[in-house]
Amino acid sequence: MGKPLTVLGIESSCDDTAAAILCIDGDIAEVITSEVFGQESIHEAYGGVVPELAARAHTEKLDLAVKQALNKAELDLKAVDLIAVTAGPGLIGGVLAGVMLAKGLSASLGIPMIGVNHLAGHALTPRFTDQMRFPYLLLLVSGGHCQFLRVNGPEDFTRLGGTIDDAPGEAFDKTAKLLGLAQPGGPAVEAEAAKGDAQRFSFPRPLLDRAGCDMSFSGLKTALLRARDGVIADKGGLTAQDRADLCVGFQAAVVDVLVEKSRRALAASPGITGFAVAGGVAANGPIRDALTDLSQSLDLTFVAPPLAYCTDNAAMIAWAGAEAYRAGRRSDMTLKARPRWPLDETAPALLGSGKKGAKA
Ligand code: KG4
Ligand code: ZN
Repeated sequence: MGKPLTVLGIESSCDDTAAAILCIDGDIAEVITSEVFGQESIHEAYGGVVPELAARAHTEKLDLAVKQALNKAELDLKAVDLIAVTAGPGLIGGVLAGVMLAKGLSASLGIPMIGVNHLAGHALTPRFTDQMRFPYLLLLVSGGHCQFLRVNGPEDFTRLGGTIDDAPGEAFDKTAKLLGLAQPGGPAVEAEAAKGDAQRFSFPRPLLDRAGCDMSFSGLKTALLRARDGVIADKGGLTAQDRADLCVGFQAAVVDVLVEKSRRALAASPGITGFAVAGGVAANGPIRDALTDLSQSLDLTFVAPPLAYCTDNAAMIAWAGAEAYRAGRRSDMTLKARPRWPLDETAPALLGSGKKGAKA
């Protein structure tokens, strides 16, 4: 192994402006700093991410995020060996802002730069949090994404399936909205579900009757809306118990779909060293527990990285950039921002584009 690499990571593809400094020595990465500026308060009133507002906020906050990451690390930019920046997929305005900043820093200081696929950042996270070895299966499950990836190498991914419409995080957020709970909906729905009766409502398990690992969550959202309206029509409103029962019924359906599709994706992944999960929805206790049980029943290692590295962050971009750099890839001033950039270019395109940007 060569000398340790000091890497600056930059992420701005969705609604988080992030910068991180990693010191990477072989397989071991020390996250020196990882700064994330969220935009929840900016988009709150609109019920989804507004691309133009997101882009402006990234432009305002990117410099600050990088400065803060360097200051807290007590490092000067000149100490940075590599700049890794998200070059897609995502909302074009934000991605462009990050790529332009990286190009400026790289050109003015003569520091090598590398464009990173945001999904590769998520997919390679278990490598720096848990030193996971290739190949492994990853379930990426967030507000914008839902897919199974066989991670074969730093830039070698096979997509085994994914959502054909909404991501589960979107369905959690919509459920919370329909029931008058706080945003982001995932934690609120999980908390309500803990008080609910799982037997009362039975929601559909979409696409379980279809072979393969593709998933669908938009019908589940509609089923929840109908059940809610049914209760309101009967009783004139929703009690706290009705809300909790609806939440647990919804969550149980998501858990069942993810477990059954994971079982199929694992069966289609011979030779893997383990199973990992990433993305904001991976914070959900019942989902983590069910995937842990599934892995145990198959005698497979299961990795769920710490939440700060499951949700969007720049440490994962720094790591993924370093892996690609060590494999010999470099970017130059022709680096383009790509709103769509599937990790597995050979897999058929997934339908749809979530509220947070393109799915793949
Ligand atoms: O990965 P992330 O921070 O952002 C992107 O989507 O890129 O994921 C955010 C999503 C939101 O939809 C949020 O509701 C969901 O993750 N989430 C959860 C939980 N915590 C966050 N979903 C279910 N249960 C949770 N505990
Ligand atoms: Zn993400």
